[in-house]
Amino acid sequence: MAATRPCLVALVMALAFLSLLEGAAAAVAGSTRRSAQRRRQVRSLLRRTNKAPLASIQSPDGDVIDCVHISKQPAFDHPFLKNHTILMRPSYHPGDLHGDSNTARRPITQTWHQNGNKCPENTIPIRRTKEEDILRASAVGRYGKKMPRSIQNLVSVNDLAPNATIGHQHAVASAQEDKYYGTNATINLWQPMAERANDFSLAQLWITGGAYNSNDLNTIEAGWQVSQKMYGDNNTRLFIYWTSDGYNKKGCYNLKCPGFIQINNQIAIGGSISPVSIYGGSQYDINIFIRKDPKNGNWWLQVDSYVLGYWPSSIFSYLADSASNITWGGEVYTHDAGQTSTQMGSGHFPEEGLGRAAYIKNIQVIDSSNNIKSPNGVHLIAKQPNCYNVQSSNNSDWGTYIYYGGAGGKNPNCP
Ligand SMILES: *[C@@H]1O[C@H](CO)[C@@H](O)[C@H](O)[C@H]1NC(C)=O
Ligand SMILES: *[C@@H]1O[C@H](CO)[C@@H](O)[C@H](O)[C@H]1NC(C)=O
Ligand SMILES: *[C@@H]1O[C@H](CO)[C@@H](O)[C@H](O)[C@H]1NC(C)=O
Ligand SMILES: *[C@@H]1O[C@H](CO)[C@@H](O)[C@H](O)[C@H]1NC(C)=O
Ligand SMILES: *[C@@H]1O[C@H](CO)[C@@H](O)[C@H](O)[C@H]1NC(C)=O
Ligand SMILES: *[C@@H]1O[C@H](CO)[C@@H](O)[C@H](O)[C@H]1NC(C)=O
Repeated sequence: MAATRPCLVALVMALAFLSLLEGAAAAVAGSTRRSAQRRRQVRSLLRRTNKAPLASIQSPDGDVIDCVHISKQPAFDHPFLKNHTILMRPSYHPGDLHGDSNTARRPITQTWHQNGNKCPENTIPIRRTKEEDILRASAVGRYGKKMPRSIQNLVSVNDLAPNATIGHQHAVASAQEDKYYGTNATINLWQPMAERANDFSLAQLWITGGAYNSNDLNTIEAGWQVSQKMYGDNNTRLFIYWTSDGYNKKGCYNLKCPGFIQINNQIAIGGSISPVSIYGGSQYDINIFIRKDPKNGNWWLQVDSYVLGYWPSSIFSYLADSASNITWGGEVYTHDAGQTSTQMGSGHFPEEGLGRAAYIKNIQVIDSSNNIKSPNGVHLIAKQPNCYNVQSSNNSDWGTYIYYGGAGGKNPNCP
């Protein structure tokens, strides 16, 4: 008896150990299964996103630019665009193709141009999506998408709840006195510093239809952004966005999902742009002109002298008709609670003015009579002006313009 007891104890211990091992093995198998499933999802997304290129250009910043046949671009995976015939130009005259005539502006240049300044005829440059780009997203299914309701903070302009700005912080000007059919604006280029690796900072315009906090908000967006989470570095990149369901399933950044149709072979959307402005030194900007084609309703995008392509009218609901609001300005996003000190614009307040604060100038809208003009006044939104702020004015040179930006939590009066 006395001899069996330690045996029993040993047996019980051995059994317990075995079941522990089994549990661990099951957990390992579970996580192996999950990671195998994630790998399958990532590979399938990469196959859908990256189309077979006819040529590829390695960019010094680490990007690979694939030259994809224009008819093989992601847009044509959209169910509404199966039979779409690509349009190579808008029905209207695309305006001043030489940019601003009174300042000798250099047209935008992209880093990959150093290794080949354009893709062959009938192909378009697409920044290749890498596995690690997708792995940085919170979930494979959210890759290339904004957070749901990403501009809901703008809804309640008078909502002074101090916590409402945590996450997304905007300093913008908005116009909404009419139906709109386009906008033209010149956006100062900067490379704001992010405090936290997953923060982003951007300058852009939003063309919207429907209500901000609804499930069917339509937006067309374009500008520049710095987002290590999206691109793996902190370079200033040209970006576009669209949604037709309030940032839920429909729409994405750049050419990461079917929608936007690109026709241009010189500019890679999502590619880095340079040079950027220097505080107290040289200033650089890009002009973005988006106009709804009066003939077929497509929304054309022109960046400086490049007509890049269009968002077909058929992918939208409200924007198939017209836009109700247009907004210009900056946004900073941080996923952590608490105030970030990621810079917006130049990282300096509007009061500092030219050369020091970021601007958006020559702000114009296209009204329901198809006139391009200054908006009849804009309405400014900066919920925490001691963190990030915006000011507007107008003169004969710059038309309607804003200065916006700030350094967030680095400012002594920012909560
Ligand atoms: C595309 O064309 C085919 C054949 O004509 C037609 O059956 C289909 O409905 C069309 N699809 C769309 C989205 O128009
Ligand atoms: C858009 O703005 C730029 C810069 O002010 C200007 O050169 C261009 O002519 C404008 N485009 C149109 C169509 O008015
Ligand atoms: C707002 O934030 C403060 C400090 O982070 C917190 O104590 C408070 O509960 C928050 N209020 C709401 C309504 O979330
Ligand atoms: C447009 O602006 C108006 C007035 O500020 C606001 O009531 C409305 O919610 C805005 N809608 C959208 C999509 O912007
Ligand atoms: C980008 O900025 C973040 C935040 O400052 C920093 O943690 C990260 O190392 C930078 N990434 C690169 C590639 O320089
Ligand atoms: C232009 O600026 C002046 C003040 O500088 C202001 O009174 C006026 O409303 C502005 N006009 C527009 C169209 O923004």
